[in-house]
Amino acid sequence: MHERPEASEFCAQFAAELGVSGKIHKDDFIFHFLATHPSFANLSEAVRAYFYDGRRSSDLVRQLLYEELGFDAGAGATMLEFASGYGCVTRHLPKVLPRISVTACDIHPQAVDFLRCELSSDAMLSNSIPEQFQARRKYDVVFALSFFSHMPKSTWARWLRVLYEHVEYGGFLIFTTHGLASLKYFPVKEIPRRGFLFVPISEQGDLDTAEYGSSLVTPEYVTKTVRRRFGTPIALFREAYWWAHQDLYVIAKRGTGLPARPKGLIGWAKQLSGRALRRADQGLNRAARSPAASWRRP
Ligand SMILES: C[S@@+](CC[C@H](N)C(=O)[O-])C[C@H]1O[C@@H](n2cnc3c(N)ncnc32)[C@H](O)[C@@H]1O
Repeated sequence: MHERPEASEFCAQFAAELGVSGKIHKDDFIFHFLATHPSFANLSEAVRAYFYDGRRSSDLVRQLLYEELGFDAGAGATMLEFASGYGCVTRHLPKVLPRISVTACDIHPQAVDFLRCELSSDAMLSNSIPEQFQARRKYDVVFALSFFSHMPKSTWARWLRVLYEHVEYGGFLIFTTHGLASLKYFPVKEIPRRGFLFVPISEQGDLDTAEYGSSLVTPEYVTKTVRRRFGTPIALFREAYWWAHQDLYVIAKRGTGLPARPKGLIGWAKQLSGRALRRADQGLNRAARSPAASWRRP
């Protein structure tokens, strides 16, 4: 599928090491970003980063769900992987999270076809207008990795609302943003007073940069937005948790519905102290030590 034959060989090699599909769509922007990134000594290293980084992200999700948010590893749950792209992370999820039923979703129709036909994932098409996005159901987890890192101010909070509406009561919205540690990668060095910076630059060559660029938000901006829109605090925040620069946020959806997970929020709150927190910190250190620190994964 990839035009450079030697890339296909490396894909097959690293995919086999991890026990996942080695197919890559020719328009996979994340793959191209890595394959042409000057910080890799050769193509093999870049392809290795694509596969192992996807696995690392899947492992971080597993750690979050089972070690921090109180999900029961023996019970099933549903997850919407929003803005999945061409499956850098998606391809690892069945292996890493075998009890979680995942629906991937992206704005690119060709990505959705690829996810369905080549990666055998359940997948659906998104919409460029947040209010017109309608999934078939609500999910125990909505996970949006490096999506809010790209939305302009005009849609940022609207997407937050729409994705939150797709979370089951008792479930969680998990997302990352460019945060203060990402500022070094931005061409502008000053964050506007309200805490939202947007530049019309992105790695997705075919998307309008006014609708999908690079945005950076301060924790204060996110906290205020979440409190104002949902009347709830941020359940979990980890600065620079993903790729040693993107901030992680978790919003818990409390309410009248039955908890989707047997342990419920009290069990979850207890887990946040002590051992689980220490493990989370170890996870943070692992993330910071990873090779991702030398290249900015979009
Ligand atoms: C930086 S990539 C992240 C991909 C994936 N989450 C990962 O980390 O490998 C951002 C993704 O957002 C997708 N996207 C952009 N606008 C979207 C929308 N309105 N709905 C769903 N996905 C969208 C892009 O197509 C792209 O795949």
